[in-house]
Amino acid sequence: DWNMPDYVTEAIEKVRAQVGKEEVILGLSGGVDSSVVAALLHRAIGDQLTCVFVDNGLLRLNEAEQVMETFARNLGVKVIHVDATEQFMGHLKGVSDPEAKRKIIGREFVEVFQAEAQKLPNAKWLAQGTIYPDVIESAGSKTGKAHTIKSHHNVGGLPETLKLKLLEPLRELFKDEVRELGIALGLPHDMVYRHPFPGPGLGVRILGEVKKEFADLLRRADAIFIDELRAADWYDKTSQAFAVFLPVKSVGVMGDGRTYEYVVALRAVQTQDFMTAHWAELPHSLLGKVSNRIINEVRGINRVVYDISGKPPATIEWE
Ligand code: XMP
Repeated sequence: DWNMPDYVTEAIEKVRAQVGKEEVILGLSGGVDSSVVAALLHRAIGDQLTCVFVDNGLLRLNEAEQVMETFARNLGVKVIHVDATEQFMGHLKGVSDPEAKRKIIGREFVEVFQAEAQKLPNAKWLAQGTIYPDVIESAGSKTGKAHTIKSHHNVGGLPETLKLKLLEPLRELFKDEVRELGIALGLPHDMVYRHPFPGPGLGVRILGEVKKEFADLLRRADAIFIDELRAADWYDKTSQAFAVFLPVKSVGVMGDGRTYEYVVALRAVQTQDFMTAHWAELPHSLLGKVSNRIINEVRGINRVVYDISGKPPATIEWE
C-alpha cells in the first residue's frame, strides 16, 4: 500500500523473508499483542497463517464472538475456534488455591493448543505476541530477578514439544508501538486500546472455586461496568478496570422480599507500568449507576462494593 507507514511495510517484508512459503500457527487470545501479530501475519503471508483461538470459558462477555467477527469474518483470517469450556471447568472443579488455578488453566491451554497444532502437520512456525518488555522480563527471570508473586500465564514449553520455530515479530516493540502498528494494520481502535486481560481470565477474578454459574454472573456485571465506563469517558482514563466475583452472600431487600445473594467488587486502577497502581477516583455518580444497573440487571448479585486499595500492598487482580 502506497500510504502505509514505512515500518508496516518493513515489518511485512521481514516476516516474508523469514517465513518464505512455510506455514505458521498462532494462538490468538483476543488481547492486543496476539491480535496485532494476527493482523500483521495475515497481511504478510495470508493463508499460510492459521490461528487457534481457545475459549476456556473464562473470557469476557461475547469475547469469542468478537474475536471471530473481527478476524475470521472481517479480515478473512483462518481461525480455528475451540470451545474448551467443559474441559477447563472440569479440571478446575474443587480447586480454590489461586496458584493451583493458574497452573491448571495454563496447562490445559497448552494441552488444547497442542492437540490443535498436531492437526496442522505442515506448520513449521509458532508465532507469539512477545513484545520488548516481555523479553526484558524473562531475561530477568533467568537471573532470578523477576517477581514470582504470581506465576504468569506461561506457554514457554510449546515450541520445543511441537518442534516449531519461534516467530516473534513484535519482539523489538514497546506497547505503544504495538498499538500504532495495530491501527496502521486497520484493527479497530477499541481492540487496540483495550485494557490488558490476564491469561487465566475470569479464573483469577472469581475468588476460590471457579463455577460456570459464577463466571456467567461475573461476565454480565463486568460488561455493565465497562459499558458505563466507556459511556462516561472514563475507560481511557483508567489502565485496567473489571469486576470481581466474591463467593459470599449478603442480605438485601428487593420489593417486599428479602434477598440473600452474591457480592461483586469493582476494581479500576491507574498505572504506568502495572508494578505499582493507584485506585481510580471514579465519580460517585458513575459508581452509583454501575451499582444500580448490576443489582437490577444481574439476578444473583445484590451488593456491589468498590476496591480502594493501592498496589502495593494489594495487587491489581484479587488472586
Ligand atoms: P497484579 O495482580 O500482579 O497484576 O498486580 C499486574 C498485571 O498483570 C496481570 N496479570 C496477569 N497476566 N497472567 C497474565 O497474563 C497472569 O497470571 C496474571 N496475573 C496478573 C494483571 O491483569 C495486571 O495487568
